[in-house]
Amino acid sequence: MRICYDNQRCGVILLEYRCGADGGCVMSEEQWGVQKILGRDFGDEAEVLLVLSRRFPGVGGTIATEKAVLTAIRQEFSSKPGHAKTLFYKHAMIKKLCDFFHGSDRYAYQHIPRPLGSATIMRENGETREAYFYQWAQGSEGFPWFYVDREGKRAPVELDEWNKFVSSFYEAGIDLSYDCTVPDGEVSKNVIHEMPDGAEHRSKFNCLWKRIDFGDRSMIFNPEACAKFIRDSREKLIRVFGSSGLDRYEMMELMLRHIMDGSLDAHSAGRLEILMRDYRKSTLRDHVASSLGEHTDAPLALCIPHENGDSFARHQ
Ligand SMILES: Nc1ncnc2c1ncn2[C@@H]1O[C@H](COP(=O)(O)OP(=O)(O)O)[C@@H](O)[C@H]1O
Ligand SMILES: [Mg+2]
Repeated sequence: MRICYDNQRCGVILLEYRCGADGGCVMSEEQWGVQKILGRDFGDEAEVLLVLSRRFPGVGGTIATEKAVLTAIRQEFSSKPGHAKTLFYKHAMIKKLCDFFHGSDRYAYQHIPRPLGSATIMRENGETREAYFYQWAQGSEGFPWFYVDREGKRAPVELDEWNKFVSSFYEAGIDLSYDCTVPDGEVSKNVIHEMPDGAEHRSKFNCLWKRIDFGDRSMIFNPEACAKFIRDSREKLIRVFGSSGLDRYEMMELMLRHIMDGSLDAHSAGRLEILMRDYRKSTLRDHVASSLGEHTDAPLALCIPHENGDSFARHQ
């Protein structure tokens, strides 16, 4: 990640944008709520900005937070209109499956950053970019997958919880071990470790890592296999998700249908908006609480789509 020491210079690109959020409303620069741009990075498919943000557009409305939180905004270089929403649904599916595996004690640490929102961003020249918002993962990529042992032999590094994580998702039709090594080396890509210090000499890394990048070129997602997995695991999923279990399960079913068919009928799309609004508020509230160290009642406001951003209604 290239750190931006000069907020003005790094900020210039984002501030040229206007946003047509999912509903097509236009957001002003002010409404973006981006207070500072802290870093920028590029991969093959996307440009990622690290920002402090107070506005999170997405399905179900724009959610506003009182304090800015550290957020990644991933903008695909070339993608069809509406693609950000599909990417957001894939990321949210993976996050809910991660919650399920974590909640079933398959592993002890949450390895997927929280998805927070999506938007079509309109640039002043009329071009659009598909963007989605998610939790920033602290740490760095680039730790080696291999090390040289005492006898001088090359041996695989042990990344704690990696095998359980990969095999759990594999059962759900998703290969997250894909595209995790740079093409011309043996170091990690798309896996961020929080404590990479002394990486070259280590044979083991603890479980404080996160998998990022759910673009089409960086994972294999088989929606049919995933649908079968969630059907077969229905009772367990609902139990692990607790009081919101039925809603979260229905949300997963509808997101998968959208991923498979590219759209939903009006009734299902409306239902998914309601479920998604509740989920995004809840995950953003937890995100704010953990990033700001506040209790979980940290104030959130829901901005009704199409409404003037200054007069948004508050729903706690
Ligand atoms: N949430 C995040 N936390 C930390 N670093 C990130 C995050 N998202 C992206 N990055 C950085 O930005 C780079 C490019 O983002 P990525 O989503 O992998 O795009 P691409 O699909 O083009 O590879 C990543 O390799 C990583 O270094
Ligand atoms: Mg990548």
